[in-house]
Amino acid sequence: MKKVVLAYSGGLDTSVCIPLLREHYGYDEVIAVTVDVGQPEEELRDAQMRAEKLSDSFVLVDAKQEFVHHCIFPLIKANGCYEGYVLGTAMARPLIARHVVEVALREGANAIAHGCTGKGNDQLRFDAVFRTTDLELIAPMRELGLTREEEKRYAAEHGISFESAGGSGGDMDKRWSVDENMWSRSIEGSELEDPAFSPPEEVFRWTASIEEAPDEPELLRLYFECGVPVSVNGEEQDGVALIRTLNAIGGKHGIGRTDMVEDRVLGYKAREIYEHPAATILLEAHRDIEQLILTRNELRFKEMVDRAWSELVYQGLVMDPLFDSLNAFIDKTQERVTGTVYLKLNKGVARVVGRESPYALYTKDVSFDVKREQRTAEGFSFYHGFQSRLVRQPGGAGRV
Ligand code: ARG
Repeated sequence: MKKVVLAYSGGLDTSVCIPLLREHYGYDEVIAVTVDVGQPEEELRDAQMRAEKLSDSFVLVDAKQEFVHHCIFPLIKANGCYEGYVLGTAMARPLIARHVVEVALREGANAIAHGCTGKGNDQLRFDAVFRTTDLELIAPMRELGLTREEEKRYAAEHGISFESAGGSGGDMDKRWSVDENMWSRSIEGSELEDPAFSPPEEVFRWTASIEEAPDEPELLRLYFECGVPVSVNGEEQDGVALIRTLNAIGGKHGIGRTDMVEDRVLGYKAREIYEHPAATILLEAHRDIEQLILTRNELRFKEMVDRAWSELVYQGLVMDPLFDSLNAFIDKTQERVTGTVYLKLNKGVARVVGRESPYALYTKDVSFDVKREQRTAEGFSFYHGFQSRLVRQPGGAGRV
């Protein structure tokens, strides 16, 4: 009895994988595992419905809390961003992979599989975690190189239906490849692959267009504690609820759309569209309050750490011990990152309009209205630029 556990999303690729694992790879039992990181309810229901038809058994893991506390909160502290992409899919993959591994070990499977192609980043993120076991690793999409048309034909031959349980038509003929979790939604494929093609409004689900967004601005008050958001407009909310609230408010104002060309790990440049209202708001606010609280030295050094952190996440290398070390540094800096940020949301923009913190390094001494002995700055100023002066002075070291 050969048993395989498949990371299952319910979409075309992973659905086609199920009969392939039986017919092409000779497995007797296929266990489909879907990990809930905040996909829409309907998508989860569809995955379950399809898996129950196609696979031998279906496991649904609720990882929403874990996703927020172990992925999104560290990301906020690290101002996580890769080339302007807020790292949604990238952050979720290793967590999904870890849960799939757990099921595979518990079920005594012989192999573990994912539906990623050989062109993207996701294969690297899944593989890195899957290879922590001795199980055979199968990636049918990468190994067989089917085109989307071939997949659709194969799916039709195997009676794989993409009628949605929610009756919304299903995603079989949807042109776009969408990956969604509670932090961000990514849309790619089809005409969008042409970087010159302007995305039609229909690809966006979380954000209003600038035209539809209300004219009236909305004020927002966010409270952070040790680098993590804990309340919105004075109302304390748990992480999942807080992110959903901000996605709704920000989305209404058209905040958090990204249209970019991104450097994939393999070196391909890919055109990507993202929606992430809560992420935009939280990252703007977090960066701003850090600027009020951290020292100049901390800020400069942390910028490098944040970047290294983001690159490891993008590459799917969160198991590198360096990642733990970077997190330890970041956590240390966040001990003082507590305070309030005020934002104004309007027509696609979340603008910080105020901030305050008991840990602010801001001093009133700088004010035009405060009388203070200023002559002490003279000595400082004398040596400021000292070496450049030596180079530039007539007959100085700068002669060539
Ligand atoms: N380019 C992003 C990343 O590598 C998102 C990929 C999402 N996949 C999708 N099918 N839309 O993290």
